[in-house]
Amino acid sequence: MSQLSNEQLALVAATRQTLERIVRDFTPAVFASSLAAEDMVLTDLILKSQLPITIFSLETGRLHAETLAMVDKVKETYGYDITLYRPETAAVDAYVARNGLNAFYDSVEMRKECCRIRKVEPLGRALAGNQAWVTGQRRAQAATRSSLMVEEDDPAHFMTKFNPLADWSEQDVWDYIKANNVPYNALHDQGYPSIGCAPCTRAIEPGEDVRAGRWWWENPESKECGLHVVDGKLIRIKSVAA
Ligand code: ADX
Ligand code: SF4
Repeated sequence: MSQLSNEQLALVAATRQTLERIVRDFTPAVFASSLAAEDMVLTDLILKSQLPITIFSLETGRLHAETLAMVDKVKETYGYDITLYRPETAAVDAYVARNGLNAFYDSVEMRKECCRIRKVEPLGRALAGNQAWVTGQRRAQAATRSSLMVEEDDPAHFMTKFNPLADWSEQDVWDYIKANNVPYNALHDQGYPSIGCAPCTRAIEPGEDVRAGRWWWENPESKECGLHVVDGKLIRIKSVAA
């Protein structure tokens, strides 16, 4: 079993303190898990300490089987049922009927509309009634996340948002996973450092940016799905449905 360095142990301790502070000062709070590596680190920290932070996933209807399998894996490992939020059936059906099943390849607008229906609207339902939400975002993940703070205001949802892993590197994430035997998505061993919906995520080649496989046909500036406010700017996703 690999060991964590003293710096990494300090990082873990600081992250645990952040989670304990959320419970103390922001209950009820929820954690949005995409079931990818970063989110498994937070899942492990939350569930091993039995912190009362509800864990949910946005089950978009387009996730890989390997990602969905992590819901059962979490149940098997920790005895915990992740709450799943699904898109409104009528909205999905209308989008598909009007535009086709894979219209997100046609334009950024079409892609954002699909993300709005399958992710952003269900996120609103998942967050309703809470004081804070937690994400697994890291500063080093993307240009759009370079000024990410551990604690920030989320004006889109009128609550506080915590990114407890903001300071963590990719190496820290994997060292924690190995040192603590944390289960992880099988796709990570198949060239997928970053995982979203199946049709919008591809494996990357060695040396490529970790998010190069997300919405790979778009420019880096547009590569956010509307779940997160970027650099203090509220990313509003307009409906293109007539
Ligand atoms: S995304 O905005 O590009 O899709 P990314 O995959 O990097 O986000 O994940 C960043 C954080 O957003 C995750 O750590 C998680 O907190 C949240 N998130 C992303 N996708 C989901 C999902 N399907 N369900 C719940 N939370 C998610
Ligand atoms: Fe739709 Fe792709 Fe966004 Fe998933 S990531 S909601 S499939 S556009």
